[in-house]
Amino acid sequence: MTAKILLLPGDGIGPEVLDATARVLDWFRRKRGFAVTTDSALIGGAAYEALGTPDPQATIDKAKAADAVLFGAVGGPRWDGLSFDKKPERGLLRLRKDLGLFANLRPALCFGALTDASSLRPEIVSGLDLLIVRELTGGVYFGEPKEITELPDGQKRAVDTQVYTTGEIERIARVAFALARLRAGRVASAEKSNVMVSGVLWRQVVQSVHDREFPDVALSHILADSCAMQLVKNPKQFDVIVTDNLFGDILSDEAAELTGSIGMLPSASLGAKDAQGRQGALYEPVHGSAPDIAGQGIANPLACILSLAMCLRYSFARVDDAVLLEKAVEEVLGQGYRTADIMQPGMTKVGTTAMTDAVIKALDARAA
Ligand code: IPM
Ligand code: MG
Repeated sequence: MTAKILLLPGDGIGPEVLDATARVLDWFRRKRGFAVTTDSALIGGAAYEALGTPDPQATIDKAKAADAVLFGAVGGPRWDGLSFDKKPERGLLRLRKDLGLFANLRPALCFGALTDASSLRPEIVSGLDLLIVRELTGGVYFGEPKEITELPDGQKRAVDTQVYTTGEIERIARVAFALARLRAGRVASAEKSNVMVSGVLWRQVVQSVHDREFPDVALSHILADSCAMQLVKNPKQFDVIVTDNLFGDILSDEAAELTGSIGMLPSASLGAKDAQGRQGALYEPVHGSAPDIAGQGIANPLACILSLAMCLRYSFARVDDAVLLEKAVEEVLGQGYRTADIMQPGMTKVGTTAMTDAVIKALDARAA
């Protein structure tokens, strides 16, 4: 069966890193017999400019029909003034919601060659390998009411709603526990149960899923603010961190910086498997659209390329190919190739294309 992958380049450096990744995907088609066809569509600010909407129905339909989506990035200052339903980010949020992508996997892996690129001391981050499992379709980003109203005295009142049901917490907890079993077997669940009732329920439900279904996994509960502190103090204590949409958004950016560059971090957003075993899946670099460096050919393509590795692993069960690609990335870093964001003294500074060439060359060498 031929795999169908939809490419959604989006805005800023999205198109550049996705082009690079499409070249790598093509390598797997040519050299590793991966039967795959690709299509592309507009999303985010690019869709807004062309069609007046950041989340065209045709794009959503194509995404639903695909086996996996490779996503670049959306957003930029150019669209700051727009209302929420027109903002580029709406395209991404709609995809997550409509495809039911409730589980966001954000690994933070510190490559040996990049230990010195982190703002933290090398001994704190060397060998770091943690996974943030962020709930992605609930919580305060989606809860209703979500509105700004006028008060009688002329003030305005803004409301966002944090809301979670038992089922939403159970399913994300299961993802975290199941992944922990394939790793070091430890889950830290982060919430704010000291001040939020949604946090109280979160803690209870995670604990009961653990006790019923995953008693072999070591579970700890941690307040999200304390988790933020522990992440910079002693990040290697963590294996899997499971948390809600808002805290996961914040903690995953923080975890990204531990690894030296947010330009290195991939992510996977997965849905539930249906009766036929089909599962919605979207893979994207964590770094976002970086409008300040867009169009200059200097963006780091590795986060997007590593997102393809996650895609090979999770959507197509091509684990050998995923490992091959991850090793190739490690190798080019070991060879001293660096994009500007991870540049260090004595290394070879390259742009997006040259970095991608190096990855493909490393793949060729490994496959030979
Ligand atoms: C992320 C981003 C998104 C989010 C934005 C672009 C909507 O920050 O994926 O972490 O807030 O979820
Ligand atoms: Mg974010």
